Amino acid sequence: MLDAQNAPAAPVIVRREDYRPPDWLVPEIALDFDLGAERTRVRARLKVARNGAHDRPLVLDAEGLTLVEVTVDGEAAEHRLEDERLTITVSTAAAVVETLVEIGPRANTQLMGLYESGGILCTQCEAEGFRRITPFPDRPDVLSRFTVCMAADKAVYPVLLSNGDPVGAGDLDGGRHWAEWRDPFPKPCYLFALVAGDLVANRDSFVTASGRTVDLGIWVREPDLSKTAHAMAALKASMKWDEETYGREYDLAVFNIVAVSDFNFGAMENKGLNIFNSRYILADAETATDADFDAVAGVVAHEYFHNWSGNRITCRDWFQLSLKEGFTVFRDQQFSADMGSRAVKRIEDVRVLRAAQFPEDGGPLAHPVRPESYIEISNFYTATVYNKGAELIRMMHTILGPERFRAGTDLYFSRHDGEAATCEDFVRAMEEGGGIDLSRFRLWYSQAGTPRIRAALASDDNGAATLTLSQQVPATPGQTEKQPMPIPLKVALFGADSGTKLEERLVMLEEERAEIAFSGLLERPVLSINRDFSAPVVVEAGRDLADLAFLSAHDDNAFARYEAMQQLMLDTLLRAVSGGPADHEPVIAAVRETLANPALDHAFIAEAVLLPSESFVGDHLAVVDPDAIRAAREALRVALGSALEGQWRAAYSATAANRFEYSPAAKGARRLRSVALGYLLGAGAEDAAKLAMRQFEDADNMTDRQGALTALVNSGAAERNTALAGFYDRYRRDPLVLDKWFTVQALSTRDDALEAVEALARHPDFTLSNPNRMRALVGAFAANQRAFHDVSGRGYRFLADMILAVDRLNPQTAARLVPPLGRWRRFDEGRAALMRAELERIVAAPGLSKDVFEQASKSLG
Ligand code: TRP
Ligand code: ZN
Repeated sequence: MLDAQNAPAAPVIVRREDYRPPDWLVPEIALDFDLGAERTRVRARLKVARNGAHDRPLVLDAEGLTLVEVTVDGEAAEHRLEDERLTITVSTAAAVVETLVEIGPRANTQLMGLYESGGILCTQCEAEGFRRITPFPDRPDVLSRFTVCMAADKAVYPVLLSNGDPVGAGDLDGGRHWAEWRDPFPKPCYLFALVAGDLVANRDSFVTASGRTVDLGIWVREPDLSKTAHAMAALKASMKWDEETYGREYDLAVFNIVAVSDFNFGAMENKGLNIFNSRYILADAETATDADFDAVAGVVAHEYFHNWSGNRITCRDWFQLSLKEGFTVFRDQQFSADMGSRAVKRIEDVRVLRAAQFPEDGGPLAHPVRPESYIEISNFYTATVYNKGAELIRMMHTILGPERFRAGTDLYFSRHDGEAATCEDFVRAMEEGGGIDLSRFRLWYSQAGTPRIRAALASDDNGAATLTLSQQVPATPGQTEKQPMPIPLKVALFGADSGTKLEERLVMLEEERAEIAFSGLLERPVLSINRDFSAPVVVEAGRDLADLAFLSAHDDNAFARYEAMQQLMLDTLLRAVSGGPADHEPVIAAVRETLANPALDHAFIAEAVLLPSESFVGDHLAVVDPDAIRAAREALRVALGSALEGQWRAAYSATAANRFEYSPAAKGARRLRSVALGYLLGAGAEDAAKLAMRQFEDADNMTDRQGALTALVNSGAAERNTALAGFYDRYRRDPLVLDKWFTVQALSTRDDALEAVEALARHPDFTLSNPNRMRALVGAFAANQRAFHDVSGRGYRFLADMILAVDRLNPQTAARLVPPLGRWRRFDEGRAALMRAELERIVAAPGLSKDVFEQASKSLG
C-alpha cells in the first residue's frame, strides 16, 4: 500500500531495445531466515563478481525492506537506499556483500515476496518479488547457486521447505528448529521459494528413465490430504511423458509441491518446490468438477514441464517471457491431449484463445507475443504471451512435423542448458535442428493483431478448382503498418455428393494473396479450412448454411466438424441479431443429425451442439448489442430445446449417472447430460426443473451437482432458491466450492444477475483479500456480457469500485480486472461513454498502483 502511494508520478517505461547485460554477477547466495509472521529477519551473503571492465557500483533491487546492516568483505560499507534501489560501492572485482533486512509477511497483502496464507508462510517471486525479500539484482539473467537456512517456531511451522535438496535440520532452544536446503543448479532469483507451515505430505516416488529415484511430496493442510491423489497421479504421468516425448528427465532427488489458498496466479514452477494455488491441486469427486480435475492435471504438468522449459533454460529478460510460457503451454496442451480426447482438448484450447486472446489482440491492450515495452511486467502474463505463444510453437510443430520438431527442441535444450535465452534462440534452434528457414515466421513474435483470412473456392465443371486466399493484419497500438505473415492452413476438399474427402494439404500462405489450384475433382468440392485450427487467425470462407451443415456431418477432422457447426450457429444468430428472419431450421437439422450419429462420442457431441457464447457472437458484430444477442441466443436455445425435446430426453437418460468414474467416457457422458438438461430447461419442459432438482440432490459428484445448480440458477423455477441454499449449507466451509456458488450466480442469465452480484459483494463470505474469491464473483461477473453491460452503467461502476478497493491490497489482482472496461470501442456510444468515465475515474484515483495505472490508462487509448 505504501509502495503504491510512493510510486513515481511519471511511470518508468521499460523497453526491450534497452537490454544490457548485468554489471554484476552473483554466482552464489546464502540466505538465512529467522521466520515469523509479524517479523522475519533475512540475512543474505552474496558472492558478487564484476561483469566486464567498468567502475559502476553494485545496484541491488530492494522494495519495502527495512534495512538493518550492509557490509562488504566484513566491513561496514558505503551505501544508499533510494527509489527501491540499494547502491553499494564495491572497489574490487569480486567481493562478499552481506545485508540484513526485516520484513513483515503478515502485512504483505500483495502476495508477492514472503507472505502468509492460512497460517502458512510462503513465497512468490516471479516476476519481481524477490526484491521484497532481500536486496538483489532481481533480473532473470543473474543466475546463482542458492543455500537457504530457515529457523522458526517448531509448533507453528513444523515443516520447512526450500529449493533443491535438504542438507541439514535440527532443534534450537525455545521451541524453535532449523533446516537447511541447497540447490545445486544455478537459477535466477524468481525461482527461489520457501515454505514454512503445519503441513502434511502425500508422499510417493518416481524412478527416472536412467534409474534414479525421486522422492515426491504434495504438501497440504491435514484435512486436504485426501484430495491430493489426482495431482500426484498427474505429476507422475507428466514426469514419464516428458521423458518419452521430449527426452527430458528430472534432475534432483526431491520434488515438492505445496498448495496454498491465497495466490495471485495458478501456480509457480520454483525449482524443486512448486507452489500452487490450492484450486489446481485439491480434487475429489465430491468437490471438484471434471473441468477442475482436468485443470489440476494440466497445471501440475505445466509447472513440472517448466523444469526444463523455464528453469534449466530460463529467460534473458522479461520480454522473452513467451520463451518459457508459450512453449510450456504448448507442452501441457500436448500432454492433456495425449491423456484424454485429442479433439475435445483442441476445441477447449481454441475456445480459450478466442474468448481471451482474440479480444486482447483486437483491443487497446494488444501487444506482440514478445512485447516491446512495459510499465509493470505483471501485466504481461497475458493470453497473448501464454496462449498465442503456444499457438506459435504449434505452428512450428505443424510446419516441421513431429520428428524435425523434436530435432529442433533437442538442439534447443542441449545448446542452451544452464543459460538465460531469448525467443530468437528458440527459433534459431528450430531452424538448425529442423532444417528449415523461419526468417519470415519471426513476424509472429513481433507483430500483434489477429490476421484475417478471406478464402474463396471457385470450381468448374471440368474437375478444376481455385482457392483464392488473402490476408490482412489489423493495425494495433504502436503498429500501424503490418507485413503479411506466413500462415500454415490445413485445407481439405470434400465431395458434395459422396461426402468423401477429395484432397488434403497443408497450404502455406506466405504473401498477401495466393491462388491454389486443384484438379481432377469428380464432384463439386466443399472447402474445409484451418483444420485443427492450424493457425491462430480468423477465416471468412463465405460458405453457405448448406455447406456448413454438410461439413458438420461429413468432415473427418473433428475440430473442423465442430467448427462448421459453430459457424452455422453463429451465422444464424448474427442474422437474427441484425433483424433478419430467424430461420432456425438448418441448425435444428444439423444438431438432430449430430445427436443421432452413432459414430460420435458423447464428449464431442456435447461440444458440437453447444451454442456459441454471447461474447463470441458479440466479437463478430461491428457494435455489440448485448440485449439483442441474448434474445437471439435464447430464441435459438428454446427452438432447439423444443424441436428436439425427445432427443434431449433420450440423451439425458442414456447418460444417467452411474457410480462416479473419472474416465474420458464417463466425463463425456456427464458433459452431454448437462447440455441436454440445459436445453430441456430452456425449452420449458414441464418436468425439467424436477429433473434438475433430482440430479442436484442425487449426484455423487460435483460435475452433475454443479451442472444441475447452473441450470436451475438460470431458470425461474421454484427449486432455484432451494438448490442455492442447499449448496451453500453443504459447502460453506470449503472455500474452493464456495467460489463456485459465487460464480454460478455471477454468470446467471437471469435479469436480476446484476442486483444479485451487488448483493453478493456484501455477503459475509465475500472478501477482497483472496484472489480466488475475487475472480469467482467479480471476474466472472465481468464475463457475463448482458449483466455487465447493463445499459444503466451500474455494472461498470461496480467493477471500477472493486478495482479501486482491491488495488489498495493487491495491485496484481486489481489490474487483471481492468481489461473488460477497455472494450468500450466495441459498444454503442452510450455504453462507451459510461465505460470511459469509469476508466477515467480509476486513472484519477490517488495512490493508484502502477499495475492498474498501466492497464487503465492504456485502455483509454
Ligand atoms: N510462471 C507461472 C506460470 O507457470 C506464472 C506465475 C505464478 C505468476 N505466479 C505469478 C506470474 C505471479 C505473475 C505473478 O505460469
Ligand atoms: Zn508457466
